[in-house]
Amino acid sequence: MTSPQVVLITGALTGIGRATALAFAKEGAQLVVSGRRDAEGEGLATELEALGVRAAYIRADVRHEAEVRSLIEQTLERFGRLDVAVNNAGIEGDFGPISDTTEANYEAVFDTNVRGVVYSLKHELRAMQAQGGGSIVNVSSVLGRVGYAGFGVYTASKHAVDGLTRTAALEGAAFGVRVNGVAPGPVETPMLNRLTGHDENAKAQMMAGMVGKRAADPDEIAQAIVFLASNRSRFMTGETVAIDGGHSAG
Ligand SMILES: NC(=O)c1ccc[n+]([C@@H]2O[C@H](COP(=O)([O-])OP(=O)(O)OC[C@H]3O[C@@H](n4cnc5c(N)ncnc54)[C@H](O)[C@@H]3O)[C@@H](O)[C@H]2O)c1
Repeated sequence: MTSPQVVLITGALTGIGRATALAFAKEGAQLVVSGRRDAEGEGLATELEALGVRAAYIRADVRHEAEVRSLIEQTLERFGRLDVAVNNAGIEGDFGPISDTTEANYEAVFDTNVRGVVYSLKHELRAMQAQGGGSIVNVSSVLGRVGYAGFGVYTASKHAVDGLTRTAALEGAAFGVRVNGVAPGPVETPMLNRLTGHDENAKAQMMAGMVGKRAADPDEIAQAIVFLASNRSRFMTGETVAIDGGHSAG
């Protein structure tokens, strides 16, 4: 019998990352959950172990290459391999028109959403090339394929993620690594609550204007990530799958 797959998730402590960790645990995977809040991270690792799987929290801020390199090194040291990586850490930044964009907002959003994914891909691809294969899933957004007035910098950052997914897929194909993405519409997470000002009426109004009429449950995104990471999607690479209740179909 082969040992359970080793799965690494960045920004794993809340929202989609956390739901993805729980979904992989239910599949019996070994988990490395990464983030920046140690007590919360240790708590999640304990919760995952209670489901009967091996799990560890490893601290990493994806904006800093040394921390990402160390995250991958520690994963390999402690678990022996890296089969699946989910690049999920991301921030939304400020809401407002491009004509009001600040340097600080541009830097913050691109530092996490683009620089963080570049560093993560770099070190994940190296590790997976050395072991002869693997599967990576980038968490993009429906705003990687359509625009959204008031959210120009975030939208640009997620378009960049989709370009990285395609390019990393071409580079990874030579050594058996697949790279795909998910493009969620609104999802019930702390990010969506921040975006709607923690106001349920504002959220309901936003959803009323969407084809699917509701936000996704984080597990609905996690299930697609588990599929893209698995052998069941073995001939898919370079693809970013929309999970948005139809929002981007029009
Ligand atoms: N919630 C939505 O509606 C929605 C829609 C489309 C895409 N997404 C994307 O899903 C991903 C997860 O977001 P979420 O909705 O679960 O929100 P969230 O805020 O709950 O999760 C993001 C996680 O990333 C972590 N993080 C942020 N910057 C980091 C950094 N520099 N290093 C390490 N960790 C960092 C945060 O602490 C947080 O735990 C993001 O990439 C986001 O852009 C979310």
